[in-house]
Amino acid sequence: MGCALSELGWVWGATLGQEVAVAREPLLDLSEQEVLLLRDSWRLIQDDISKLGVIMFVRLFETHPECKDVFFLFRDVDDLQKLRTSKELRTHGLRVMSFVEKSIARIDHPERLEQLALELGKSHYKYNAPPKYYQYVGAEFISAVQPILKEKWTPEVENIWQHLFMYISNVMQMGYQEEERRKAEEKHRLRGHNGI
Ligand code: HEM
Repeated sequence: MGCALSELGWVWGATLGQEVAVAREPLLDLSEQEVLLLRDSWRLIQDDISKLGVIMFVRLFETHPECKDVFFLFRDVDDLQKLRTSKELRTHGLRVMSFVEKSIARIDHPERLEQLALELGKSHYKYNAPPKYYQYVGAEFISAVQPILKEKWTPEVENIWQHLFMYISNVMQMGYQEEERRKAEEKHRLRGHNGI
C-alpha cells in the first residue's frame, strides 16, 4: 500500500529536479496478501449483508442526520428505530453491499472496478448525494463488521477495508464531478442555443 498522500490520490513527480505534488487518479494499490485478507473477511460477512446494510445506514443517519435528507423516502421519518424495519432501507443497504461485493469481484481488473465506481458517482449526482458524505459509509461499514469478525478483525484488515472505501469514495467523487461538469456545459450550450 502507498503512503498517505498516494492513498488520497496524489503522487510525487519530479519537475526540473524538484519534487512537486501532482494530482492524478486515485490508486487501489493492494498486495496479493491484502487481497486475500479482503476476500477472506468478506466471506465471513457475506451472509449478513442485508442486516449489515440496515445497521450501517441507520448509524449513518444517527451520526450524520443531514444524509437522511438526501433520501426522498426517509427524510420525513424522525424515529430512526422505525427505519430498522423499512423495506426501502433494507433494499438500499443491500444495493450498497452488492456494490462492495462487485468491487471485490473486480479487484484484479482495476480498469473495470474504476469504471463501475465512476458510473456510480455519476448516478449519485442525479440522486443529489454529494461526495462529502461518501467517506462516512466506509466508517460505518467498519464499525458494523467489527463485531462480526471479532478476533479476525485486525488493524491490518481494518486498514485494507479503509483503503478500499477511500478508493471507491474518491472514484465516485470523480464521477460525480464529471457529471456535474457535463450538466453545466449542457446548460451553457442550451442557453447559447436559445440566445439567453
Ligand atoms: C461508499 C459509498 C456509497 C456507495 C458504494 C453507494 C452505492 C449505491 C448503489 C449501488 C446504489 C444503487 C443505484 C445505482 O447503482 O446507481 C445507490 C443509490 C443511492 N444512493 Fe448510494 N452509495 C454510497 C453512498 C451514498 C450516500 C452517502 C448517500 C446519501 C447521503 C447515498 C444516496 C443514494 C441514493 C439517494 C440512492 C438512490 C435511491 C436508492 O437506490 O435507494 N449514497 N447507492
